[in-house]
Amino acid sequence: MTQPNIAVPTTLYAQRRAELARRIGPHGVAIIPTAPEQQRNRDADFMYRPDSYFYYLSGFTEPKAWLVITGDGRSTVYCQPKDLEREIWDGYRLGPDAAPAALGVEAALSSSELDAHMPALLDGRDAVWYPFATHPGLEARIDGWLGQLRARVRYGTLCPEQQRDLCGPLDEMRLVKDAHEQDLMRRAGQISAGAHIRAMQLSARMLRAGQEVREYHLDAELLHEFRRHGSQAPAYGSIVAAGANACVLHYRADTAPVRDGELVLIDAGCELDGYASDITRTFPANGKYTGPQRTLYELVLASQHAAVAATRAGARFTDPHEASVKVLAQGMLDEGLLDKNKVGTLQDVIEQRAYFQFYMHRTGHWLGMDVHDCGGYTEPSEIGTVSERKDALTGQTIKDRPARILREGMVLTIEPGIYVRPAPGVPEQFHNIGIRIEDDAIVTATGCELVSRGVPVEADAIEALMRA
Ligand code: GLY
Ligand code: MN
Ligand code: MN
Repeated sequence: MTQPNIAVPTTLYAQRRAELARRIGPHGVAIIPTAPEQQRNRDADFMYRPDSYFYYLSGFTEPKAWLVITGDGRSTVYCQPKDLEREIWDGYRLGPDAAPAALGVEAALSSSELDAHMPALLDGRDAVWYPFATHPGLEARIDGWLGQLRARVRYGTLCPEQQRDLCGPLDEMRLVKDAHEQDLMRRAGQISAGAHIRAMQLSARMLRAGQEVREYHLDAELLHEFRRHGSQAPAYGSIVAAGANACVLHYRADTAPVRDGELVLIDAGCELDGYASDITRTFPANGKYTGPQRTLYELVLASQHAAVAATRAGARFTDPHEASVKVLAQGMLDEGLLDKNKVGTLQDVIEQRAYFQFYMHRTGHWLGMDVHDCGGYTEPSEIGTVSERKDALTGQTIKDRPARILREGMVLTIEPGIYVRPAPGVPEQFHNIGIRIEDDAIVTATGCELVSRGVPVEADAIEALMRA
């Protein structure tokens, strides 16, 4: 990631580190590496992006860096040393001398000193905390430091007795977004909304002019709008799916033609200073929904309205999903996608998960620094409450635990959809229609704030802007 656009006072990161220090206890030590650089091919790397946990606690975007926080609240950054020759080739390095003032940490050292320092830093701590199963090789490296410490027990060293998963406390902290994070997510949502509008308008304009449109033309519009507003990159691989491609859930923008009379599903959002947006709109390539397209579009939209209405502090994470499933399942019966004589009543469709043929994903996920953000989906205050049931479709035993209770400041997506692959008994007019409508919601006391509605969802409003 290049330097962020928005200057953030180092006190924000210091507050987060202090809170983490409190959570790991006075005698704990937390070790947080940033992400490695990733080779793309031969000597070309992928664009660098720091590790989300590391960036959340430091605001530091350079690779080959580590953060060590001790329970007394002291933070040390290990970073790349200054090196004029490497800086000529690869760019500026902050360096350990400038890091304490720039990052607001108590101390900074060269990354090359980490291995020499860590055994002494672990000596006498009760627990060593690090993100489990996140950084390949980290466990072995920590084992090496602990092994060196243990080799000196006869000289009085004390090994920590516990290794603990730092994702626990950090995920809880990241799950509730502070004012700075909410503001960034509003901006990211606004930029992405503009990009969707731009792609919709280009599609209609090119088709009206008789030009050939391909998925990559629309992808280029998205990228242009993201970067024009300072977004570092798309938050995930943009999905630009023309026609039947919309029924492939993880389709990527490619070369398929965007045809007059077909729908286009775009699922794309920018990342801004480390925070993701995640928006899906499904629009008619030429600017006008056909009858069957509009029928299913209105159904998905109604299910999204129901899910939005179910999203507020105090509700469960699963409430929006259940609300949207109810509307979608009823619509599938009404439109003949499901045969009442075969699948029974609405309640049967829900209990037997018959709707799964056309709606096979959940209605949302946490959103934050990562598009599928961290944070537990079960309610921590009810851990231990668990019931078992047999899944109607797979026959597998599922453990049901109470879903997370939503709190103000949590951010989630609301993204119902319907995907109609041709199959015996499925009305032909709906074949190959794939529709998803996805918005980003900040939970409030009384409902939610949709930060992605800079691009409309109503069918009439989409047609109007595509005429413009
Ligand atoms: N764009 C990924 C998702 O909607 O979950
Ligand atoms: Mn999503
Ligand atoms: Mn999405």
